[in-house]
Parts: sequence; structure tokens; C-alpha cells
Amino acid sequence: MNLTLKIWRQKGANDKGKIVDYPVSGISPDMSFLEMLDVLNQELIEKGEAPVAFDHDCREGICGTCSLYINGRAHGPSTKITACQLHMRSFSDGDTIYIEPWRAKAFPVIKDLIVDRSSFDRIQQAGGFISVNTSGNTQDANAIPIEKENADKAFDAATCIGCGACVASCKNSSAMLFVSAKVSQFALLPQGQVEATDRVLNMVKQMDEEGFGNCTNTGACEVECPKGISLENIARMNREYLAASFKG
Ligand code: SF4
Ligand code: FES
Repeated sequence: MNLTLKIWRQKGANDKGKIVDYPVSGISPDMSFLEMLDVLNQELIEKGEAPVAFDHDCREGICGTCSLYINGRAHGPSTKITACQLHMRSFSDGDTIYIEPWRAKAFPVIKDLIVDRSSFDRIQQAGGFISVNTSGNTQDANAIPIEKENADKAFDAATCIGCGACVASCKNSSAMLFVSAKVSQFALLPQGQVEATDRVLNMVKQMDEEGFGNCTNTGACEVECPKGISLENIARMNREYLAASFKG
């Protein structure tokens, strides 16, 4: 396949940045999208030019780092996959492909296609944990009965990989889907009840301080989420927040 790539290049946080055209040829439809970028970068290095900086780690849909906006969609044209799971067979010979970083105030661009998503880490640090008694009296988690439906919903919420596609696809740059998944995975389990009140209040407070926008129920986040995190989690977080506000 021969393609024209239009890639966002930005030398650093204070650089204005611009789209630069790169032709690439000899791309196999069986290559992953990131392998296609590897081919381009190899060519750029051989020509003595700076390779395109992009984030990646696991390359199998687990780590959530491959945050690419491809042809105007978070993680590209396919649903329920990350950019590293996207293959070139999703495109046609001769295509022009736009590749940009996530766009959100709370995700500033570091370089080219890499954004700083440490705001998500700070939200997690504000409440995305449980306290466990490790004094020798620790209760075996398997000995705590949990309703199947709640266990399944908690597990579904826990599949959020923190990629940020929900923020990037939201017109308000809202992080509600991410935060609600992190709140829900504990709110549905007995182990999460000890810090439940503080957790939701602190995580929402941190989310607001980081500069994420509000949710206006558009639902783009759910459509673009590679893990199929449901909007139901946002409704659950709102209930948790309301209850915690009365207690707090
Ligand atoms: S909710 Fe979905 S889109 Fe948002 S960070 Fe988690 S996995 Fe990514
Ligand atoms: S590189 Fe880990 S999810 Fe894509």
C-alpha cells in the first residue's frame, strides 16, 4: 500500500506545531498501525531527520499509552480497539491518513503525538485505591461473598486502561467516563466501602482541578472507548457523589 500521512509535528510544549506530509510506500495490510509508523520512522532516521514521537508500550491493547487521533477519531476508524490493535487492512491503497495527538487542556502535548496524561495519575492517587489490613488478620478476598451481577459490573469497570480516548472524543474534554470507571470498580464491591465517601469526593475534586470539562451526556466517550466502558458508570458515580455530599 502507498499512503500519504499527515502527521502533527510539535518540537515541544511551547512550539506551535503543524501538520507535515509524509508519503510512505510498501506498507503491508497485515502491519499494525504502529508498525507502519515504525517504517516511517526508520526512513526518517536513515535520512537524518527526527523520527515522529509517539507513545506505545504493550502493543496489545493493555497499557493504554498509544493515544493517537486517527482521521478525526480516537484510536482510528474501528471500534473497541486501541491504536496498536488497528491494522493497515482498515485502510485502502492511496489513502491520506491524518494522525494527531489527543486534544485536551488537561493533556498538554509533550512532543509530536505524545501528550502528558499525568492528570489521570493524580486522579487515581486522590482515591483510586483501597486499604487492606495486613496485620496478619487479612481476610481472604475469595471468602467474601459478592453478588455475581455486581462482580461482573465491577470487573467490566476495572477493564478501563486509562487511555484517555474518552476525553479526546468528548467535545467538553470531560473525564467522567474514566473517573466513573475507577469509582465504580470499588463502589460495587464490599472492599471498596471503607473509603467510598472520600474516594468519590476526592477523585471528582481532583478531576475538576485538572481542568477537565463537564459531562453533557453526548455519549461520544462510550462510543470511542476501546474497552466498552458503559455510561452506566457515570450514572453510578453521580449517585455515589450525591450520597457522599450529604454525608460529607
Ligand atoms: S473509560 Fe475507556 S476511553 Fe476512557 S480511559 Fe478508560 S478505557 Fe480509555
Ligand atoms: S501500546 Fe499498549 S494499549 Fe496500545
